[in-house]
Amino acid sequence: SNPSILILPGDGIGPEVMAEVRKVIDWYGAKRDLAFDVSEDLVGGAAYDKHGVPLADETMAKAQEVDAVLLGAVGGPKYDVLDFSVKPERGLLRLRKEMDLFANLRPAQCFDALADFSSLKKDVVAGLDIMIVRELTSGVYFGEPRGIFEEGNERVGINTQRYTESEIERAARAAFELAMKRNKKLCSMEKANVMESGILWREVVTRVGEEYPEVELSHMYADNGAMQLVRAPKQFDVIVTDNLFGDILSDCAAMLTGSLGMLPSASLGAPMANGRPKAMYEPVHGSAPDIAGQGKANPIACILSFAMALRYSFDQGDEATRLETAIEKVLADGVRTADLMGPEGGTPVSTSEMGDKIIEALDAS
Ligand code: NAI
Ligand code: MG
Repeated sequence: SNPSILILPGDGIGPEVMAEVRKVIDWYGAKRDLAFDVSEDLVGGAAYDKHGVPLADETMAKAQEVDAVLLGAVGGPKYDVLDFSVKPERGLLRLRKEMDLFANLRPAQCFDALADFSSLKKDVVAGLDIMIVRELTSGVYFGEPRGIFEEGNERVGINTQRYTESEIERAARAAFELAMKRNKKLCSMEKANVMESGILWREVVTRVGEEYPEVELSHMYADNGAMQLVRAPKQFDVIVTDNLFGDILSDCAAMLTGSLGMLPSASLGAPMANGRPKAMYEPVHGSAPDIAGQGKANPIACILSFAMALRYSFDQGDEATRLETAIEKVLADGVRTADLMGPEGGTPVSTSEMGDKIIEALDAS
């Protein structure tokens, strides 16, 4: 049977950008004999409007069964007044938690045509293609004890950086598997010089690395890593790091390349019975209520998220490259949604025109 995909468009521009992903999925079925069983359901505010909850139990069950979930974005001003327990983002959090998506993949990829958008010099970022793997379900955001406590005559705020060997091991394994699908180069970042969890992190990553002799493994203190990411990002291929450092380093890396409308992401969990990892793919951006319903949204982040699904869930690395190359071609031709317009101006294309141009480039590939 065909690999299965659950599409959760969500709110705001989510459905608009997802419609363009549907065109791409359909193209693969029609032109590359790569058909998917696609189902669609509600998440976020859209699910709340229908079910009174941001993710229905049946939708959660479906997400657990499919080979990959593609999510648009959730949220919007209409839902800001809701109780925390039914806020749109709770739908997203439930998916991440119940699917146990412990590895968050954030690429920083610079399309040459957009290199001028970077806050760095063009030659520092042109051709950049790196991937940060952030541990997502443990570390200092979750460790106990945590809280604000009375201590003598003042209060103390406490969070605990805590990592078990198995938590480090599964994140490391996800990163090595990725490195094997890319350029077999992995850099692990921690602060083993001042943190016990960092010492253990380095030890476990090194041990897992013995199972991947083809991957060139290096270690770097995370503060130096931040510096190196801005100084010479092309020295990296895959970076693996903990939840806190990964939060900061991935935001930093994202801005090496420019617009929010261009950034995809993936969150992976443990391998399922068929060997594929539990997986959810989504653009980094939100529901963009300021431009929703106007045909202005850039669908590329969402389409690149599908390219990641091709590569990391469906073992279709060549087809993922085909799609990325088609996007590169369209950008090189000067086709731009409004968020990609430079100061020199020009006429932006609409969301669906951008999707159509990408399909044309796929046809020509
Ligand atoms: P946002 O990412 O939705 O928008 C930030 C700015 O970037 C806006 O000016 C928007 O127009 C622009 N932008 C975002 N994506 C774009 C695209 N594809 N093409 C062109 N322009 C784009 O973040 P914001 O405004 O902070 O949040 C809006 C809503 O989205 C909130 O309800 C927030 O909670 C939710 N949100 C949801 C996320 C998710 O579903 N994963 C992530 C971040 C925010
Ligand atoms: Mg962040």
